[in-house]
Amino acid sequence: MRMTVNDLTIGYTDEGRGVPLLFVHGFPLSRGAWQNQLDALRSSYRVIAPDLRGFGESEAGTGAIPMAQFAEDLHALLQQLATGPVVLIGHSMGGYVSFAFLRQYPKMVRGLVLVSTKAGKDTPEAAVARRATAENVQAKGVQEVIKAMAPKMLAADNHDRAMAEQVLGFMAPSKPAGVIGALLGMAERPDATVELARISVPTLIITGADDTLIPPTESEKLAQAIPDSQLNIIPHAGHLVASEQPDKFHHVLEEWLDRVAFAVPVREL
Ligand code: MLT
Repeated sequence: MRMTVNDLTIGYTDEGRGVPLLFVHGFPLSRGAWQNQLDALRSSYRVIAPDLRGFGESEAGTGAIPMAQFAEDLHALLQQLATGPVVLIGHSMGGYVSFAFLRQYPKMVRGLVLVSTKAGKDTPEAAVARRATAENVQAKGVQEVIKAMAPKMLAADNHDRAMAEQVLGFMAPSKPAGVIGALLGMAERPDATVELARISVPTLIITGADDTLIPPTESEKLAQAIPDSQLNIIPHAGHLVASEQPDKFHHVLEEWLDRVAFAVPVREL
């Protein structure tokens, strides 16, 4: 499906009925990365997954894309879809966007799922490296970034070629302006660490045990700081844990959704 959001055409999925779950993908991915979850959950929940601006089927704007802008786009989409408060599920950069969304629209969040992400901002060195990568994309296009990122998405001992191809497919539609904008936006994102203790919605933290891009220690820090939180570290999974171990991921997510009583029958909504 497509919708105009803040003057850009955004591609998104909106299926099923019930408590709305909003899935926010990471960098430089697209909503296809959530397909297993959308398929598994749409019979019990309303599942919504947009392509962030500049990724997947969504148009890109120009310049840096602050995490606050991505959050504003998500909010505008939810307003148009009249969802009410959602369970917000963010993977990696989608987690950074989730912190911005929570800051800007706290009343729109009824639960939070943080997948392979972290609260801290970039170190000065990491920010410099991101800006250099952005210049490189400007000069040469997105292929190098995709080639560099794709192998880091899965566990090092995962040699499933079909899955590796699938990961490339999630990244292939990324536009240069989207990749550049997100790199610059991530480089300047604020630190969310001090906000963690104030998160007042039930929170599930999931990570892959073999994630080298954002190591599980980051998820442990989130779990220590967020009051009503649960941490699950899934074995044999790297950064893209939801695609790599969909059954285990699904089991953890659904058990948590049930436990925190989000699974209210549709008629009570
Ligand atoms: C992502 O998967 O979204 C990125 O690895 C996040 C980042 O580069 O910090």
